[in-house]
Order: sequence, then structure tokens, then C-alpha cells
Amino acid sequence: MQQSWTDSVKNFGTEWSGVFMILFMFIIAFFLWRTLKMMPKTKPVQIKPEVKSSIGWDEIAGVDEAKDELREVVEFLRDPKRFHALGARVPAGVLLHGPPGTGKTLLAKAVAHESGAQFFSQSAASFVEMFAGLGASRIRRLFREARKHAPAIIFIDELDAVGGRRGSDNSSEREQTLNQLLVEMDGFNSTGDVVVMAASNLLEKLDPALLRPGRFDRQVFVSPPDVVGRERILGVHTRGKPLGAGVDLAEVAARTSGLTGADLANLCNEAAIRCARRAGNELTGDDFEQAFERVVAGVQSRRVLNAHEKRVVAFHEAGHALCAELLPGVDTVHKISIIPRGRALGYTLNLPDEDRYLKTREELIDHMTVLLGGRVAEQIVFGEVTTGATDDLKRVSEVARAMVYDYAMGTAGTAQRAVSNGDTDSEQFRRIRDEEQQELAYEASRAATELLTAQREKLEEFALALLEHEVLERDDIARIMRGVPRMERRPGRGLRVVAAVAAQEPDAPRTVRTSARPPAKD
Ligand SMILES: Nc1ncnc2c1ncn2[C@@H]1O[C@H](COP(=O)(O)OP(=O)(O)OP(=O)(O)O)[C@@H](O)[C@H]1O
Ligand SMILES: [Mg+2]
Repeated sequence: MQQSWTDSVKNFGTEWSGVFMILFMFIIAFFLWRTLKMMPKTKPVQIKPEVKSSIGWDEIAGVDEAKDELREVVEFLRDPKRFHALGARVPAGVLLHGPPGTGKTLLAKAVAHESGAQFFSQSAASFVEMFAGLGASRIRRLFREARKHAPAIIFIDELDAVGGRRGSDNSSEREQTLNQLLVEMDGFNSTGDVVVMAASNLLEKLDPALLRPGRFDRQVFVSPPDVVGRERILGVHTRGKPLGAGVDLAEVAARTSGLTGADLANLCNEAAIRCARRAGNELTGDDFEQAFERVVAGVQSRRVLNAHEKRVVAFHEAGHALCAELLPGVDTVHKISIIPRGRALGYTLNLPDEDRYLKTREELIDHMTVLLGGRVAEQIVFGEVTTGATDDLKRVSEVARAMVYDYAMGTAGTAQRAVSNGDTDSEQFRRIRDEEQQELAYEASRAATELLTAQREKLEEFALALLEHEVLERDDIARIMRGVPRMERRPGRGLRVVAAVAAQEPDAPRTVRTSARPPAKD
């Protein structure tokens, strides 16, 4: 009986082992399939040129150089024979670079629409995966697809995600992906009319091999728009919006120096939202004004300050405004407010009269003087400083650092050597640089103290007006400053030179220049 029981188990085993084996293999195959499915899949997006909703050249304004450059590529792809007949070859790559929001992705969309060529778009971020080799294979696939449909354009957005210098980090997956991209752009199998376009924010961080001719041989800087460009961008973004008679886009453009296309698009949208909220039927100048403040300064907050805090904020802003009104090298004050907005408790809005591309050392110091004006005013009036100047101080140290390291505007003898060699800089070199930065900030701080002490009455007047009205517009500011002329700076006799001469006179002790310094450390 016993015998027959084990026999039957054995028989069962031999008869069914094949079935079990197959079942087992199915289970393994199932799990493999599940794992494969979990691997993220991204396909290059192919954008058909006929798509109706796409962007045309007309919808992009203010970036004419970039547009011209891309038009050339588009022309090439439309009629390659004309160029081939002259022995010209299509540029391998066009790299759009510039600050965020200047319209790089938008330009690529327009190229997709206008070129008539096949357009493949993929974000560089989607190449980098935790699975080794996946990025490289995606690049291969992207180029394979594009070559099949040549003439074609490949657009890789946010190239920084894979294009960073090799060797800077050890994520070998990223480097493999980059290597594959280098090979595809300029390897044995690079044939046909395939143009690679890419967008990046920081050219300096990209691998030099990407930038050499034969790969991204055209690099187009997409800069923030100038005043004419801004007006045209505003025109584009107000196309579908009813504008009131009082809205002057040229004026809005003049006041929005430094804003990018994306900021301006946002500004127009905010103005329209505000108009809708107050149930108006056309956008007014006031809508734009409010939207502008919202975009640059943030949303009005409900923070309630006590009476003393309010006084401190009023004097702080008055300090900024007074310095800005007195100094020649800075933008005029457009508005001062002590209504909290965003993270700021109060703000002073300075707007440039025109776009500027060069700044002098004096102007940068004046700029720092204005930034420090708030804190210095607190010190002069209340004898103590508050935490309200955090942002100003941060900006002062940024300016001072840039002055020393980027523009060689320091005071020491080493000022002619701007570029730092990173790790190989000596301790001494860094210490001198630190001191130079400090000295520049002290110079600004001394200037602010001098100005505000000399004009103490105006400071009080500003602060009292602010406490009473909370907001001062350009007209109010001009009224307060009536009779006090802006200082002048004449060639060879700059403001600062005058101050230095005065400091050398016998009864103006030289220690004044260094009185604001902490005790010297060894
Ligand atoms: N030159 C311009 N003309 C019209 N609109 C613009 C322009 N530049 C930017 N915009 C607006 O800003 C939005 C964002 O622009 P876009 O996506 O092209 O910026 P980007 O340069 O690619 O920025 P990022 O570097 O952050 O990717 C656009 O959708 C558009 O509404
Ligand atoms: Mg973009």
C-alpha cells in the first residue's frame, strides 16, 4: 500500500513535469514582460507641418536676429537643391540659447510650422533614465526616424539635461547619451538633410564638443527684447483683447525694461483677468498698471504691520527713493509703496528711461547706494537696523561680486585681472578679492549715509507722505523733490573724486573713509 502511494507520486511527477516546466516558464516570461512594461517609454513627437494650431512667424516678435537665422535654415530645407548646386551643405545644428522665457521653444514651434519639413521634437530630459543605455538608444531611434523622413528637423528642448560637460558628474548614463548624440550629429551615418535644433539656457555649461562646427555650428543668442521688441510682443499678446483708448502699448513697453517675452505674455493675461474680474469690457491703462505691479512685485498681501513697523518701512523706502532721486547714474523712481506685496513689506519701483547695455563703475556703485539707502535710512532715523533689508543686501553682494570678479572694477592693484582660475587661486588672491568687494559695498554705504544725512528733511518729507498716502506716484515724488536738483557727474571730476578730495582736507579726517569698517582682522 505504502509502495503504491510513493509510486503514484513518482508517476504523477514524471507525467506532469513537462506541464510544470511550461507553467514555470510562463510565469518567468510574465514577470519579465511586467518589468519591461515598467520601463518608461517615450516616443519622439512628430509634429506635422500642416497642424492648424501651430505658431507662425508673426506670433513671435522682438527676436529678429534669431528669426532671420532660422528662416535661412527653413529656406534651405524647402529648396535644398539650390544650395546643393553651389556646394553648400545644410548646417548640422542650430543652438538657441538665452535666458528663460525669451521665446526659444516658440521659435522652434514656428520652424516646425513654416519649414514644410518633417519635425521631430523631444525634450532632453526624457533621454536620461535610471536604466543604462536607454537614453542612447532613444537618441538613435530619434535620428533613425528623422533620417527616414529627410529633409527633417530634430528639436531637442532643454539640452542642458544631457549636454553638460562630460566628466563633471559620474552619471555615466547621461554621458553615454551625450556621446551617442555627438556620434549621431557627426558620425559615419550622418547623411541626408537633417538639421538638429536645440534650446539651452546656459551655453557655458555645455560640452565643448557639442559646440564645435559640424555639430551645433550655428549658435543663436535669443536675448530679452528691447523696447521696440517689447512693444511688438505686447501687440502680439493683446491681439484678441479689446484695448481701451487710453492704453498706449509703447508706454507700457518703455516701462517694462528687462522683462522677457514670457513676462510680457503674463502681463497681458493678468491685465485681461483683472478687466474680467471688474466686469469691464475693455482693457484700460489701469489694468496694465495693476498687472505690471503684480508681475514685478507679487500679489498684494494682507499682512498687517503695527505702527512702528510701518514707520520703519516708510523710512526704509524713503531712503531708497531719495538716493535714487539724487544720484545721476540710476533709474528714476516710478512709484513707492508701503503696501506689502509678495514677500516685500514695501517697494520702490525704479524704471530706466531707456535700454542700456553698458554700465560704468560709478553707475554700479550708485545702484548699490540706492539698494543700501533703505537700511542706512533706518540706521540714521531709528539708530538700529531691521531684518527688512535682506533682499537689498543680497543684491548688493551680487553686484559687488560681479564688479570684482567679472568686470575687474575693484580697487586693489590686481583689478586688471578679472578671471578667476577657480581652484588654483591663492589664498592671498581670494582675500584681496574679498576685501575689494567689502570696500565697494562700504563705498556705497558711505555714499548713502552722506546723501541721507545731508537731505534729512527730504527723507522725513518722503516718509511722512508715504505714511499718509501709502503709495506715491511719479508726480508726488517730483513734487517733493522740487528744488532739489539731481547731482551731476562731470568728466574728470566725478562725484567720488570730489568726495576723495574733500576727505584729504585737514579738518575732514581721513578716518571718515574707514569709519564704517569693522576692526581690521589679521
Ligand atoms: N518673442 C516672443 N514673442 C511673443 N511671445 C513670446 C516671445 N517670447 C516669449 N513669448 C511668450 O512666452 C512664452 C514662453 O516662451 P518659450 O516657451 O518660448 O520660452 P523659452 O525661451 O523656451 O524658455 P525656457 O528657456 O524656460 O524653456 C511663449 O509661450 C509666449 O507666449
Ligand atoms: Mg523652452
